[in-house]
Amino acid sequence: MASSQRYYHITTFGCQMNKADSERMAGILENMGFIWSGDPDNADLILYNTCTIRDNAEQKVYSYLGRQSKRKHQNPSLTLVISGCVAQQEGQKILRRVPELDLVMGPQHANRLEDLLQQVFDGNQVVVTEPIHIVEDITKPCRESAITAWVNIIYGCNERCTYCVVPNVRGVEQSRTSQEILREIKVLGQQGYKEVTLLGQNIDAYGRDLPGAVETGRYRHTLTDLLYTIHDVPGIERIRFATSHPRYFTERLIVACQELSKVCEHFHIPFQSGDNEILKAMKRGYTQEKYHRIISNIRDRMPDASISADAIVGFPGETEKQFEKTLKLVADIGFDQLNTAAYSPRPGTPAALWENQLSEDVKSERLQRLNHLVAQKATERSQRYLGRIEKVLVEGQNPQDKTQLMGRTQGNRLTFFRGNINQLKGQIVEVKITEARAFSLTGNLA
Ligand code: SAH
Ligand code: SF4
Ligand code: F3S
Repeated sequence: MASSQRYYHITTFGCQMNKADSERMAGILENMGFIWSGDPDNADLILYNTCTIRDNAEQKVYSYLGRQSKRKHQNPSLTLVISGCVAQQEGQKILRRVPELDLVMGPQHANRLEDLLQQVFDGNQVVVTEPIHIVEDITKPCRESAITAWVNIIYGCNERCTYCVVPNVRGVEQSRTSQEILREIKVLGQQGYKEVTLLGQNIDAYGRDLPGAVETGRYRHTLTDLLYTIHDVPGIERIRFATSHPRYFTERLIVACQELSKVCEHFHIPFQSGDNEILKAMKRGYTQEKYHRIISNIRDRMPDASISADAIVGFPGETEKQFEKTLKLVADIGFDQLNTAAYSPRPGTPAALWENQLSEDVKSERLQRLNHLVAQKATERSQRYLGRIEKVLVEGQNPQDKTQLMGRTQGNRLTFFRGNINQLKGQIVEVKITEARAFSLTGNLA
């Protein structure tokens, strides 16, 4: 007899927001009785949670969809869902390209998945991309890790960086209340989670849309206040947050990070370019001097803090000299990690319409030069760990070598060492570092 069990598969592209949304959507599907299938070809429902930050991210999903659309011709009961940022950007248009889709849903609708699928099972092809107030607490996420958890604190983005699609696809800022966030983290602590990462596209904007803040012009609750509010939740031993915006990053936040022992000394503060004219054209709202000041303020108080960032090369009009200022900033600051990208023109963004676009050759040549420097600097930064004893939160086994365990230092360096997973999973252990590579470390239990 054919089994009545229904299987689902989710592939997630893009950033941590998408990962967090996928975990909530997986929770909804499991609650509806679906069972996870690692293999999409074995699933009755496939959901692609998509990203459109750069063109190559967007194109990837079309090739995945092409394959599954063919399968749907053989198996009409297959349910095909596209969610996330490509879904929001394309809306109805995507049905012309992939008419086999059953459901097209923007990121703000993630928590409504059950209701939307009900409409699909009633025989409708559904497209939902209108902006809504994100409804909370109707879901129980099915989280990938049992040790570390994402916690959204603010959705959307009100900035208008001239290269960026995020405000178009993620909508305006919507902060969750500190009570809701605290409640979620308390439950995580009770469930045995050890680390939370607070998420927002511009996390420093947290609270500015909450009731009271708009009327009085004073935030009742900022990210800094929130860190104090959640700090003592039992069970949670580490707190991280991302992404910081240099324009809004405060001295008060630096003091809080130093004072609060559970807050990891790791800062992810994208600078995008080392040239003030380019920063202006990007509408970032700060100068490279201000960026340097932020980093030195952090390092004055926390000399060992690790610093990571994002940068774009080949923004329209970027000259060789301007690009060299990005190289200089990277050389001067010495990042522990840097996510780099060649500028990609995105639909609906101002910079995509400018005529001073650079050639792909120039962009990729600059990207290579930058990446080379990044690896060199990260290797140098890693050396400071050699011979030190680091506190590592054990997350699991090294997938490449099952005799090793892996976890992260406070500063977010991936660390490998020998040990027994059953005894150590979820614990913070001391590891003496014996090898340091650009982006990872190896050591022995101390
Ligand atoms: N909110 C974060 C970044 C979100 S997008 C911030 O303000 O920094 C993640 C990264 O993707 C950005 O930091 C940027 O470096 C990169 N990015 C965004 N749009 C891009 C584009 N059109 N081309 C290339 N890289 C882009
Ligand atoms: Fe995009 Fe700028 Fe918002 Fe970051 S702050 S998500 S780069 S618009
Ligand atoms: Fe991509 Fe959307 Fe995140 S465009 S980077 S998944 S906000």
